[in-house]
Amino acid sequence: MDWLKIREDFPVLNKKIEGKRVIYFDNACNTLRPNCVVDAIVDYLKNHPGCAGKRSSHYFSKETEEKCQEAREKLAKFIKALPSEIVWTKNTTEAINLVANSLRIKKEQNVVCSILDHHSLLLPFYKRCSETQAELRIVECSKECTIDAERFAEKIDENTAIVAITHASNVAGTILPVKEIIKIAHENNALALVDGAQYAPHKAIDVKKLDADFYCFSMHKMLGPALGILYGKEDVLNELKLFMVGGDTIKDVVYRNGQLLPDFLPAPKRFEAGLQDYAAIIGTGAAINYLKKIGMENIEEREQKLCKKMMRNISQISEVRVVGPIDVKKRVATFSLILEKTISPKDVAEYFDTELKKYKIMLRAGAHCANPLHYFLGMNPSKGEGTLRASLYFYNTPEEIDIFTYELEKLLEKVK
Ligand SMILES: Cc1ncc(COP(=O)(O)O)c(C=O)c1O
Repeated sequence: MDWLKIREDFPVLNKKIEGKRVIYFDNACNTLRPNCVVDAIVDYLKNHPGCAGKRSSHYFSKETEEKCQEAREKLAKFIKALPSEIVWTKNTTEAINLVANSLRIKKEQNVVCSILDHHSLLLPFYKRCSETQAELRIVECSKECTIDAERFAEKIDENTAIVAITHASNVAGTILPVKEIIKIAHENNALALVDGAQYAPHKAIDVKKLDADFYCFSMHKMLGPALGILYGKEDVLNELKLFMVGGDTIKDVVYRNGQLLPDFLPAPKRFEAGLQDYAAIIGTGAAINYLKKIGMENIEEREQKLCKKMMRNISQISEVRVVGPIDVKKRVATFSLILEKTISPKDVAEYFDTELKKYKIMLRAGAHCANPLHYFLGMNPSKGEGTLRASLYFYNTPEEIDIFTYELEKLLEKVK
């Protein structure tokens, strides 16, 4: 693979901003988009800006409907699912909220999550458990931010309604043994939801092999536009209560004797109420084409190399500790750093963005929507304590890692 050539597909990487070279290390939030994704969106907006579905039947709509169907088919194939098992959502957060709010949960039941989960997973289930008086159980992690399946087994029982887990942590980068955890959930007749927001961009997914009931992720973290994906097994999706309803979710709404009698469509349509973000759906099709062209196995291999390099470089800086597993096979390329210095991660991120002479290094500082994990690790996010996060993608280079760690070491020397 010619990784330097691939960078040409991302024009912002080859542009100077304020006269400085861009080093983009905030990929866990949102990746860059290749030209082909931007082109697909522009093509929709310029050439057939209609709505899909059966509302209109003119040329714009037919084109849009065809491309949206294609995108659903491509996406489904990409994760080894069926098109009828893919629901478009706004983002991962909405996908998880959809499930949390639509599951049938009883008072005597419990929901099992983990301390490595993002707020977008913890809070929807916290809310639902508060409303239903079900118990929310949190599985804690080891010092290295790993959790083995046995720890989940201790919390899952015959009263567990759902086990909702992160596939890869957005702070520690840890990859969780989700297949074993799902198996334990199923042995207890519980459902399993996997938040793949930080896994799907980096490694191939086979939802059938995982046997997940739900799998959620965000296209904006994997080269696409802002769009969320909810995969659900067809029968499980159709058993959920309705969530948002409205236009395009029904076959018919009869009006008889002063009563409305709606007949809802099966999934996925029953969950896709109202006009959708067709530009994003079509852009998603282009992003999937691009990821397939590069190959997820090549992306994985490339990122393992970048991970090794980052680990090696950071281990040589004495004032910095990496959160999460040292073994790169157990993690994705997201590095949250604890700075054992008086300088705050926020100040470091600001310095890297604005004060370096030649580079604009874009990082993230704070608790990364994972406050409970930061508290668990001994930090106090309410006092501004947190970590400095560098999250990489395949278009980042070993040279960029060298620049980052060199500048970090230099800055920490300065504030000694
Ligand atoms: C693990 C994880 N889950 C969920 C989310 C929420 O994703 P979104 O903002 O796309 O809804 C994020 C966002 O960073 C995340 O890292």
